[in-house]
Amino acid sequence: MDLVRLGPSAAAACADIEAELFAGDDPWSQGAFVAELSAPNNFYVGVVKREGELCGYGGITKLGSAGAAEYEIHTIGVASKWQGRGLGAQLMDALMAAAGEDPGPVFLEVRTDNAPAIALYEKYGFERMGLRKNYYPASGADAYTMCRPASACNDSA
Ligand SMILES: CC(C)(COP(=O)(O)OP(=O)(O)OC[C@H]1O[C@@H](n2cnc3c(N)ncnc32)[C@H](O)[C@@H]1OP(=O)(O)O)[C@@H](O)C(=O)NCCC(=O)NCCS
Repeated sequence: MDLVRLGPSAAAACADIEAELFAGDDPWSQGAFVAELSAPNNFYVGVVKREGELCGYGGITKLGSAGAAEYEIHTIGVASKWQGRGLGAQLMDALMAAAGEDPGPVFLEVRTDNAPAIALYEKYGFERMGLRKNYYPASGADAYTMCRPASACNDSA
């Protein structure tokens, strides 16, 4: 498996995985991924098999100015057949390294019933901050907001 930076050419492969993972929650289309993967403040990485198959992806955006940066994880997903093999952790390592270059707090939202993702985020120093009721329009599911403080940038998971 190789960890690679993703650009717009990966949009179709990301959308395929997204459709499998978020079927009930309005998965991002290929067009949405083209926009995400093209945005200048976004950093997307993927884990790719040597044959070129994309197995997972993750993206983070940088907000604010240099020296006062904040970050938001936009998405992370590992195709179900590749889950449980450390790929999610590989993606998080890369996203947290990106946030460590100009250290700042990292924010995200996660469904309250998504135990695997919550455990992954807690492993990387995220803590629950709040609750957003009916955050996901398609399912009406609630979300926790989570934050990893800037001070965690020096910690390893
Ligand atoms: C969350 C997700 C990205 C984890 O990817 P993964 O490759 O399976 O994760 P890893 O094998 O690297 O595991 C890393 C850590 O995640 C957590 N984790 C992963 N699967 C878990 C499970 N089934 N139950 C509980 N914790 C789990 C654990 O903390 C694990 O660390 P450990 O192995 O030391 O216990 C994956 O489950 C996924 O794609 N889920 C669907 C998409 C999604 O919900 N994305 C998040 C949206 S906010």
